[in-house]
Parts: sequence; C-alpha cells; structure tokens
Amino acid sequence: MKVVVIGTGYVGLVTGACLSEYGLSVTCVDLDSDKISRLRKNEMPIYEPGLKEIVEKNQKAGRLSFEVNGERSISEADVVFLAVGTPPLPDGSADMKYVYEAVRTFSRNHRSYQVLVTKSTVPVGTGARLEEIMMENHSGDTFAVASNPEFLREGCAVADFMNPDRIVIGCNDPKGLKVLLDLYEPMRKANAPILVTDRASSELIKYASNAFLSVKISFVNELSRLAEKVGADIASVAQGMGMDKRIGPAFLLPGPGYGGSCFPKDTKALLDTSRAFGSPLRLVDAAEQANREQVEFAAGKVLAAAGGEKKTAALLGLAFKGGTDDVRESPALKIAEILMSKGIAVKAYDPEASANALREVPGLDVVGSAAEAAKDADMLVIATEWNEFKTLDLPRLKEIMKSPVIIDLRNLLDPNHCRELGFAYTGIGRA
Ligand code: UDX
Repeated sequence: MKVVVIGTGYVGLVTGACLSEYGLSVTCVDLDSDKISRLRKNEMPIYEPGLKEIVEKNQKAGRLSFEVNGERSISEADVVFLAVGTPPLPDGSADMKYVYEAVRTFSRNHRSYQVLVTKSTVPVGTGARLEEIMMENHSGDTFAVASNPEFLREGCAVADFMNPDRIVIGCNDPKGLKVLLDLYEPMRKANAPILVTDRASSELIKYASNAFLSVKISFVNELSRLAEKVGADIASVAQGMGMDKRIGPAFLLPGPGYGGSCFPKDTKALLDTSRAFGSPLRLVDAAEQANREQVEFAAGKVLAAAGGEKKTAALLGLAFKGGTDDVRESPALKIAEILMSKGIAVKAYDPEASANALREVPGLDVVGSAAEAAKDADMLVIATEWNEFKTLDLPRLKEIMKSPVIIDLRNLLDPNHCRELGFAYTGIGRA
C-alpha cells in the first residue's frame, strides 16, 4: 500500500515515519524545500525522541522518502493523509487555508480510487466540506474522505504512535473504511484498539478529548488555589482523587497552566464550533478562563517574593512542558514576559527550547545551565517540568545565589528538603 503524508510538522513527520516503520511505503510531502532537503539528510526539524533513528532506518530501507510538491506520489497513492497546520485565527477559529490548499493539490492529482484522510485536528464538518470540494471535479465513487485524528503528545510522539490507547477511524464510505483497516492491520495485530465510527463523531472525539483534559488540568489548578487558602496539600488531594478509578491519576498535576500547540488552540476552536451551532460548552469556557488566570497566579507568586523590588529571577524552563523544545503558548515564556514587564531581570535556562524561546522573546537573557542562571539571582523559579530540575544540586545553587528563595511552579522539589537546606520555598497549592 502506498501512502502520502502532506505536511511534515510534528504530526505529519511522526505519522509518516511510524507508518514506514510498520512496513508501508510512505512519501512525506512539504512545500518547504529547505526542510525536505534537510530531512533527506536525516536532519530533524524538531526534537522528538526516537524520531531520527526511525527516519534514518526507513529512508535507508527505501520505505520512506521526502518530496517537495509530491504530485506524482500523490497520484499513485492509495491513501493520502492531510497533516498540515490548522493554526488559530484571532477569533479562536482554526485557519483552514493550508488544508484547502492541500486538498486542491490532491484534487488536481487524483486518478483512481483513493482515500483522503484528515490527520490534522480539523473542526467538525471539515470532512463533509472536503468531500464537496472533491465532488466539484470528481465523481463520489472514486474517493472517500475519512477522519483519523492523532493523539500523540510532544516529547513521546513516537511511543504514542506505536502504542496508542486507541486508533479512531471515522469513515462514511465502506470501501474507504476497508482500505484504512488494511493500512492499520499491522498495528491492530500489535494490540492497538481500533474504534470505527462516522466521520463527524471522529472529528469531535479529538476536540472532546483535548477539551476534557484541559478541563481536568484547570480543575486541579483552581483547586490548588483553594488548597493554599484552606491549608490543604494539592498533591495529596490529587492523589486521593486519582485513586478513584473513575477519575484516574493522569493530568492532575497543578502548574502554571496548560500550553502547547494543542490544548489552547483546540479548546478555542471547539468553543468557536459550539458558538456557531448555538450549543454552549460552559465547562470548556471556564477551563479556558481559569487557564488564563493560572499563569497570572503563578507569576504573582514570583512578584510577591520580589516584594516590589527590582530583583533578578533565575527562570528554569522555557518549553511549554518537559521533554520538548516547543514554546508555543508556553506558560514559562508568558511568565518571563510578565516578570520583565514589571522590572524583574530574568536569566533563563532550558535544556532544549532556548533557540525557539529567543525567536519569540528576542530580548530574553538565556544562559547555558541552571547554575549560570542561578548565579547572583534573588530567586529560583521552576516553570517547566524537565527531569533535570528534579535533581538540581541545591546546596551548590544556594552558595551561588544572592538569596536562597525557590518558587517551584511545577511542585518538582520536596519542600521539606528545600527548607532543611535553608531555602524559603513556595510551591503551588501546598504550604
Ligand atoms: C496534547 C494531548 O495530550 C495529545 O493527545 C494531543 O494530540 C495534543 O495535545 P501535548 O500538547 O504534546 O499533547 O502535551 P501534554 O503532555 O498533553 O500537555 C499539555 C499541557 O498540559 C502542558 O503545558 C503540560 O505542562 C500541561 N499539563 C499536563 C499540566 O499542567 N498538568 C498535567 O497534569 C498534565
């Protein structure tokens, strides 16, 4: 079976590489010729554990190739995945211009029966719209438009693709469904559960899952603020909640708010859909608002520690979460900007995200290690949950800091241990 993936961002590149790992013949297509020539040399445009190895191995084996335009490959493919970006427009709705551009390319090169699959997160109803576009030039029995959303997390995208909780296929055309079930047969054999549903439900499953997780995080974040007021410890509260199988322990970690390329964008796009259909989603609306407040709440802790003086903060972490170089909608970067706007000098360190952070905030003072950031700083602020911040050499940092103050916005450190070492410690939702 021949597969084309249009778009070599996080989703497209991981999808293409992992499908080739399952033995399929895959061509990844992108209009960015520079990116394609780097990928041909096995240079990854993103940091994603395990990706480079798979790309290298499958390119060498001839199962994976990279092309600009890819017109011939598209015309010869059995399945074409759309994995182009759907970035948010100022009103929160998804910008569909890349999707429409890609579908026009597909339409121009469409020959025999093919399945067009949306892998990018697209608003409910997109599949129906793409079908209409195809029908302008082709008969409906020569193609199917299906939805097959991706649930991968940055930082463990390859592992998530290879061991998914579920593969969702939304297809209203039995012939197209059979093609996709054949494509995923090796993964089904490797125990990946497959849910077959209609196209609109599949499109909604993706948004509903991300919105639900956003609600879960905002719930625990708001609760952490209450915990501080009533003298409770949010870690114990979350643990006690998570032990209930109906709730589960995942996504109950409080922090400076959720970020990244998915949760902020998808909650807004789902709210946009709910408004368009006059069917409010009040909980998602509230989660969004709570998330906006959470970053202010987190920055407020640092400002309170500065006590109105122009102090220096060592900011550990710039990525939106640990394990990635992505700074899109990163609460850590927002905190840096809030602090700088209030006259706090910020010295920041991140193991992977420095270059991306500097592109977003060119004036940011970025250094090469946690110790360099901490030198002569008045406080140490942990904003991203990188593993290396769990094992900081605290006695050494205390020696080089101007004053021993830790503001742990991810609750990574043991408060008692920090206090025993002589630090003034503040976490989130705990004394
Ligand atoms: C998410 C979804 O998990 C994935 O299924 C979807 O396809 C894309 O969006 P990702 O954005 O890579 O993946 O990150 P994720 O690990 O889900 O974290 C999102 C944000 O929530 C991060 O900012 C993270 O720090 C925050 N988070 C997560 C918390 O604040 N607390 C938690 O308990 C979990």
